[in-house]
This record gives sequence, C-alpha cells and structure tokens, in this order.
Amino acid sequence: MLERTIVIVKPDGVKRGLVGEVIKRIENKDLKITRLRMIYPTTECIEQLYDVHKGKSFYEDLVKFMSSGPIVAMVVEGDEAVRVVRNLIGSTDGREALPGTIRGDYALSIRENIVHAADSTERAEYEIKIVFSETCGDF
Ligand code: CMP
Repeated sequence: MLERTIVIVKPDGVKRGLVGEVIKRIENKDLKITRLRMIYPTTECIEQLYDVHKGKSFYEDLVKFMSSGPIVAMVVEGDEAVRVVRNLIGSTDGREALPGTIRGDYALSIRENIVHAADSTERAEYEIKIVFSETCGDF
C-alpha cells in the first residue's frame, strides 16, 4: 500500500557530509522524495518530535544532540514506505545495525546514528506536521 513517511538526517549525518548518501539510498530503492527541508531546529521542536521518549534516561542528551546543528528532513513516499525505510536505515544501535543498512555502514553509536525515520504511518503524519511547520526552526 502506498504510504508516506519522514526521514531526518541528524546533525551528525549533516556534519559528516552524508546527506547525499542518504538521499541516494532512498532514491536507489525507488522511493520518492516529495518534500525536503534543511533547518536548524529549536529545542522545543525536537522535544515535540521525541515526545514519546520523554522521561527516558537518554532523552535529555538526545534533545541536546538533535538541536546541536542543522538537520535535513524529507517526506518519502512509496509502497509500504514506513517499513521499507526502517529496513534501509537499520537498527537504532549503530554497533548492532547490519552492514548494508545506513546505520550499519556509517554509525558506531546508539545516539549519533545518522538518520531518524517514523515507525508508523500515524507517527509519520505527526512528525511531518511538526518538522515541516514554520516554527520548527530556521537558518
Ligand atoms: P531514533 O530512531 O531517532 O529514535 C530515538 C532516538 O533516541 C534514537 O534514534 C537514538 O538517536 C536515541 N536513542 C535511543 N536509544 C538510546 C539509548 N539507549 N541511548 C542513547 N540514545 C538512544
């Protein structure tokens, strides 16, 4: 079924010059990028994005990291895009992610893991609304 999801290249991915690599892998898979935005996100925007993790041990550091520099957000469409993109990016922990996945090939950290992608179509709509709003950030 045709779905849309959100993919975010995190500050570490942008700093390391991996925006093109992430886009290439998404496009190679025949998924379509329908929106794209580079922003320096506010802390408030990141707190909304990661509301489900509030209270967890890694939450404060995650918010600090995600608002430490520019991010690139994109809307990605295709057949079963949520699951397909999650498979493309690999497990959260870069040390465990399989070679061939984005995190498996480029990340060695559980926090600084290059990319984020929504885990359901409902979350995708919620996260797209937040990250593509005018108030999420600027340059
Ligand atoms: P992401 O897929 O964006 O979803 C939540 C993020 O929190 C995750 O990627 C990591 O960046 C971070 N994260 C998840 N678990 C941990 C953890 N145990 N320690 C540090 N950061 C984590």
